[in-house]
Amino acid sequence: MNFKGRDVVSIKDFSKKEITYILDYTKRIYPYAIGKKHTDLLKRKILSLLFFEPSTRTRLSFESAMNRLGGSSIGFADPSATSQKKGESLSDTIRMADAYSDIIVVRHPQEGAARLAAEFADSPVINGGDGAGRHPTQCLLDLFTIQTEKKQIEGNNIVLLGDLKYGRTVHSLAYALALFGAELSFVSPSNLKMPDEVISECKELGVNPTSTSNLEKAIKDADVLYVTRIQKERFPDPAEYNRVIGSYKIDNALLKTAQKKIIIMHPLPRVTEIDPEVDNTLHAVYFKQAFNGVPVRMALLSLVIGGNQL
Ligand code: NCD
Repeated sequence: MNFKGRDVVSIKDFSKKEITYILDYTKRIYPYAIGKKHTDLLKRKILSLLFFEPSTRTRLSFESAMNRLGGSSIGFADPSATSQKKGESLSDTIRMADAYSDIIVVRHPQEGAARLAAEFADSPVINGGDGAGRHPTQCLLDLFTIQTEKKQIEGNNIVLLGDLKYGRTVHSLAYALALFGAELSFVSPSNLKMPDEVISECKELGVNPTSTSNLEKAIKDADVLYVTRIQKERFPDPAEYNRVIGSYKIDNALLKTAQKKIIIMHPLPRVTEIDPEVDNTLHAVYFKQAFNGVPVRMALLSLVIGGNQL
């Protein structure tokens, strides 16, 4: 299996076999991610982090991952402090990062920006989220979390809830879950449904997701409830956002109607969709899930840059 030099723009760039390989390798790398073991595998390698949109977890976990592998990182979290402010194009900024580093992570508000970046860079480009498009590394950590919490992905009844229209994490995840043979249920307000393109991708893989706005019904059989934030920044009309914010709230009363072993996931940040009272229950795995970004990204960086393995 060869990952060296590859771009990671969409989870669809990988086969099921390759994803399984990355998840297995993540398990092996885990002790390095928690500081129990140490390595200099990526010593003298440099990662560029180009964040044209806000980020906490994706940026910091990539930085942590690179440090844990003995490499270092450069970049920006606020494009207004770069020459973008002077009118520089995305492609020119990418050319510079390409010259200054060995691998580039880019997050951008425009769908397709990572694919464009990959065309301009000789170094591998990893998509850290492109508008309402895709978020492949979040997808890998979501899969890793389900696999570790539920033993396997196949056969689980998984509910994706919230802003399925603008939420990029669920676009990548729905495809990957279908690839692994999960049962899928999409729950959203009627104006924030999963795009037809993603539903077709699932169907092509032989999975026929159900779509509803009724969470109470869908949650009864769920093994996994994956909650998402309503993506305020992507609404053309703020009045439309105000109509849907607060549509769903996960709290302990609702969870009493669910299976005892249900797990609650969320890519974070959460706003109002999960009551903090849920945090202390055994159902809540979202903080563990966020941590899993470190070992998953370590696995990916070492495979794509190094070709070497721990
Ligand atoms: C998500 C994103 O940026 O798409 N966050 C993340 O990367 N963990 C989810 C979100 O912003 O709602």
